[in-house]
Amino acid sequence: MGTAIAHGGQGPEEVIRMAERQLWSGRFAEGPSEMTLSFTSSLAVDARLAWYDVAGSLAHARMLAATGIVPKEAAEALIDGLKQLLDDLEAGKIELSDELEDVHTNIEHLLIERVGEAGKRVHTARSRNDQVATDLRMFVRDAVLEIITLLIDVQEVLIERAEEELGTIMPGFTHMQHAQPVSLGFHLMAHVFRLQRDAERFLDAYKRLNQCPLGAGALAGTGHPVDRALTAALLGFDRPTDNAMDTVSDRDFALEFVYACAQTMVHLSSMGEELVLWTSPEFRFAEMPDAFATGSSIMPQKKNPDVAELVRGRSSIAIGNLVQMLTMMKGLPLSYNRDMQEDKPGVFSSYETLTSCLYVLAPMYRSLAFDRERMEEVCTEGFLNATDLADHLVQKGMPFRQAHEVVGAAVQYCLRTGKRLESLSAEELKGLSDLLDEGSLAHISMEACLNRRTSKGGTAPSAVREQVACARAIIDSHRSVCQGEIGRLESVWKELRK
Ligand code: ARG
Repeated sequence: MGTAIAHGGQGPEEVIRMAERQLWSGRFAEGPSEMTLSFTSSLAVDARLAWYDVAGSLAHARMLAATGIVPKEAAEALIDGLKQLLDDLEAGKIELSDELEDVHTNIEHLLIERVGEAGKRVHTARSRNDQVATDLRMFVRDAVLEIITLLIDVQEVLIERAEEELGTIMPGFTHMQHAQPVSLGFHLMAHVFRLQRDAERFLDAYKRLNQCPLGAGALAGTGHPVDRALTAALLGFDRPTDNAMDTVSDRDFALEFVYACAQTMVHLSSMGEELVLWTSPEFRFAEMPDAFATGSSIMPQKKNPDVAELVRGRSSIAIGNLVQMLTMMKGLPLSYNRDMQEDKPGVFSSYETLTSCLYVLAPMYRSLAFDRERMEEVCTEGFLNATDLADHLVQKGMPFRQAHEVVGAAVQYCLRTGKRLESLSAEELKGLSDLLDEGSLAHISMEACLNRRTSKGGTAPSAVREQVACARAIIDSHRSVCQGEIGRLESVWKELRK
């Protein structure tokens, strides 16, 4: 009776059946309680690793066959069974059982069900600890390649829009105050370069994560004559990892990924915020296309930039995941600890958060309607050309600090009299400094201010054209690395399934 209660009211026979379904039942006189089973289960989360788990098992089985660790006939049965499992998974014919604690247990059970005794040999020279690290690395590897592809889509739209707006003058801001005139194209290119560093971060993380954990075993390696280089090659990894204990306890690769996601989301969030501002009635720099806006259930007039707001809002999820995973890993003793099962929700959630935003941003930027006239109109406020007037005095020989004082006084004068620097009369200019005259006005038109900033990285159209060319070259190289890698992995999978 006691047993039945401990196992959620099941009879002794049922308890034995359940216990045997665990991969580790031998050591236990009784099976785990229902409560323990459901508390420790990770299937709801790690089921999405099923394909990688089978592919990893297939590579492992091929290595077991090649090294003779598993007899030929059994190894062939394993390989056939796993290939069949991959086909069935892709065809949606596989159902995983939530009575089994994780995806690895499920796959092993399915294999044994299908190929019988031979299936019981698949876990030779392997542990779930190296297995799960391998599965997750393969997931992150694909995620990185998908994310870079999506980042490139957003960058390309931004560059296209930037090229159309090289001569569109708008206020550049610092502290959210008018600072100096810039072109809209230049402003959009700033986002392109942010995203370019994000893509580089993902590619850089990729180099470190593309090493194969299989063969590390539980923590100490294995006495079986495994060929780790073969397993690594079969799964398209650059090479096997170096230290087994490090391998089963390392989640740096997942953390780097989640960090790169968070950093990218911080950039996207800033873009979302900008769109919220720009489409507001106070700014009116842009009109959100209807397709990317929503209305209000009570206020009939409303058109809200919810998509942009959600991009901004979802950055919190990516940041939260990073903090969660850093906190989970902090202070864990070597080597594998079950805490690490909690690595997957953050990885999956960051991946989904980021990709959902990247998907929506490309078409949204493509159809955003900029209001060039409005941008130009607001350039008349805020003395955007003050620095240029000071620079003009410097060219005439005045030390910059003194020129700064003179123009500061000019701004004060304009504020008092309701004027703009570019509308001061020759007399007023003379009154401010002997070095100023009517000719100075041509020097401080918004166009002149913009066109003069030809320094590398500056806002002048010629400088922005260079930035466009540079960004395109980098994007091309990212695209070719990424597509090369996607193609390489495709042939890896084809080869593995032969
Ligand atoms: N579900 C586990 C995880 O995600 C798999 C590894 C379990 N290993 C173990 N020794 N209990 O980390």
